[in-house]
Amino acid sequence: MIVASNFKTNHNRQSTKEFVDFINNQNYFSEVRIFPPYTALNKFDLAPNIKVGAQNFYPVQNGSFTGEIGFEQLEEFEVETLLVGHSERRHIVGESQETICAKYNFAKAKGCEIVYCVGEPKEIREQGIEAVMSYIWKQFEGIDIEYSELIVAYEPVWAIGTGLSASLEDIKEVLSCLREKIKAPLLYGGSVKVATTKDILEIKDCDGVLVGTASWDVDNFSKMIEIADNL
Ligand code: PGA
Repeated sequence: MIVASNFKTNHNRQSTKEFVDFINNQNYFSEVRIFPPYTALNKFDLAPNIKVGAQNFYPVQNGSFTGEIGFEQLEEFEVETLLVGHSERRHIVGESQETICAKYNFAKAKGCEIVYCVGEPKEIREQGIEAVMSYIWKQFEGIDIEYSELIVAYEPVWAIGTGLSASLEDIKEVLSCLREKIKAPLLYGGSVKVATTKDILEIKDCDGVLVGTASWDVDNFSKMIEIADNL
């Protein structure tokens, strides 16, 4: 099982360090991923099942891209896992599929683990599963789904940060459609809470959760990892 926390624009250097150290000292055996903001990245001394990654990067080694973070800056902190295609980057920042592919391919060439996020907006969900899957498969255009370091996160846009999680049936349906073509681990994300973690993790094709809001509190995040450890 994989339990991942996306800090988004939350936590600072000090609170991230405390969070990571606390999780690292618990001897969990689930795979844990923590994505703090860039400014809180560090060379953390981590157990092999725990990785700290970056929420974003600009797909260059280095260069003249004012305000961006390239791979050289991530390598300083031995970052081994990256979020690519998160809905807030697609829909708020306006990243195109082309940009997302450039990031994916750059990270792949570096051999980095990629948590690749896909998911439909509300108006597509309202049209039913066929529309949902056709939208999602388009988000795989240009993406090598055979990449050995790939993890896929299904995160419906309307469920992210809204408190409205997809139903267990909806999650199950989408993950089983993804499973027909994708061998990589499949996560669900979108308003996952401690109280819903067990049921979501018990879904047949679900290999883990990617959590925003409910994971920013280290006690909550720990409870989620404990649930995964106990399954
Ligand atoms: P949320 O965010 O748990 O706050 O809905 C999930 C995500 O964006 O990965």
